Amino acid sequence: MINHHLEDGVLKILLNRPEKKNAFTNAMYRELTQILSDGDQNPQVKVMLISGAGNAFSAGNDIADFMKSPITHEDAPPINLLKVLAGLSKPLIAAVDGVAVGIGATLLFHCDLVYAQKEVRFIFPFVSLGLVPEGAVSLLLPRLIGHQRASEILLFGEPISADEAMGLGFINKVISEPSALPYAEKQAKKLTALSLGSVLRTKSLLKDGALKTAILNQIDIEGKLFIDRLHSPAAKEALSSFLEKRTPNFNGLD
Ligand code: COA
Repeated sequence: MINHHLEDGVLKILLNRPEKKNAFTNAMYRELTQILSDGDQNPQVKVMLISGAGNAFSAGNDIADFMKSPITHEDAPPINLLKVLAGLSKPLIAAVDGVAVGIGATLLFHCDLVYAQKEVRFIFPFVSLGLVPEGAVSLLLPRLIGHQRASEILLFGEPISADEAMGLGFINKVISEPSALPYAEKQAKKLTALSLGSVLRTKSLLKDGALKTAILNQIDIEGKLFIDRLHSPAAKEALSSFLEKRTPNFNGLD
């Protein structure tokens, strides 16, 4: 469900499960983690570029998977993916169309360049699902926009438009064309023409050091809480209500 191919130094990665808005199954997390790790090691790869098939980037974790096989501390494919993303040495560009929800939105905080089509909605629905944020957004978002604005986004989980995301500073450009992909491909090509040594060292200066340690630590802290919450009555109610296409009722549920 994840396609990838190398084209002129650009490793093009496509989340390809359009019928479910590219929601991640555990198998997809594992596949993407491997593709990114291999790409980071492959000397022929200068830049990686991720996008989603159909009119969606990703609807986040597959909710049916959350119910069927909830992740545990010992085996947490999304957490492994986030850690690999946070540790990449090569630049990763995201082309975002449609929706970016949950981990489909938080993984963007570990990309170096993010281009979003103008109709995109970013959604951080963790609290409305009875869960907690992941992907170190509870660290990175307040650092970017301040505590109050981050609280509003992470507590209410209301959709954020591409223009709003641009104003908040977590994407690089709003694309008016039907898809952000051609522009992102152009930028990827531009990067491949630069000195790889300079590009890699610049990324390292921007991302390595104390911040990376803090990010990895936050991913662990959030991960433990997330897994605990996944087994809570509130999360069970929220997740089953999505599958049953009804409004959740949190009355009396922690
Ligand atoms: N897990 C499993 N299936 C999902 C999914 C997810 N995270 N997101 C979407 N789907 C499925 C829908 O159930 C639907 O399947 P169906 O056609 O068999 O009914 C299909 O993908 C299309 O989704 P739909 O809801 O009809 O599209 P939409 O454009 O109206 O809304 C979303 C798109 C992403 C806003 C909406 O699907 C949504 O809120 N999904 C849940 C996102 C979420 O909470 N993710 C978990 C984060 S931790």
